[in-house]
Amino acid sequence: MSEIADDLDIPQLGDALPLIASDPRWLPVALADLETVHADHLHCERKAAQSALSLIRSYPEQTELVIQMARLAHDETRHVVQVAGLLSRRGQQASYDHGDAYAAAMRVHIRTKEPERLLDRLLVFAVIEGRSAERLGLLAGALDDPKSRDLYAFLAEAEVRHRDIFLSLARDAAPQCWRARAAELAEIEAGVLAEHPILARIH
Ligand SMILES: [Fe+2]
Ligand SMILES: [Fe+2]
Repeated sequence: MSEIADDLDIPQLGDALPLIASDPRWLPVALADLETVHADHLHCERKAAQSALSLIRSYPEQTELVIQMARLAHDETRHVVQVAGLLSRRGQQASYDHGDAYAAAMRVHIRTKEPERLLDRLLVFAVIEGRSAERLGLLAGALDDPKSRDLYAFLAEAEVRHRDIFLSLARDAAPQCWRARAAELAEIEAGVLAEHPILARIH
């Protein structure tokens, strides 16, 4: 299962985004209702593709961003296919999207004026990718079914790469201040998580 982004040289920038570990209560809650987790996960992947495409709509003149986001959206739509396959293997139907209060709470911190807006969009997407990677990795380490475990390990790795793609674009967009803003948003995310109920969902 090779990723579209495999041939790119993606810098490892995760140290710039010091996300806290998930509350240890999250994993048992998720494992107790995998049906809801998987149903939510399908929409997380879909929304990740849409977010990448929305950046192409907003910044068509930025060629590097357009290429990276098109590749990333391609990865994410493949992930939708893979999660849909998982649902089908489990004999489970996909359900409607019930929204994502976590992502909405993070988006509140995207400043409205350019060039800060672009930086914040890239960094908030990096945060969401980073959190998803952590939680998909936790699931990969805990699921009983070997096929699901492999899938989640593969997806967790992909989301780490996506986090780093967003961070590298943020670095290019604002070389002087991206690290400080990334650290700020990591801290903001810790506050958002503290306010957020622990749910059988990816976030
Ligand atoms: Fe994904
Ligand atoms: Fe992703």
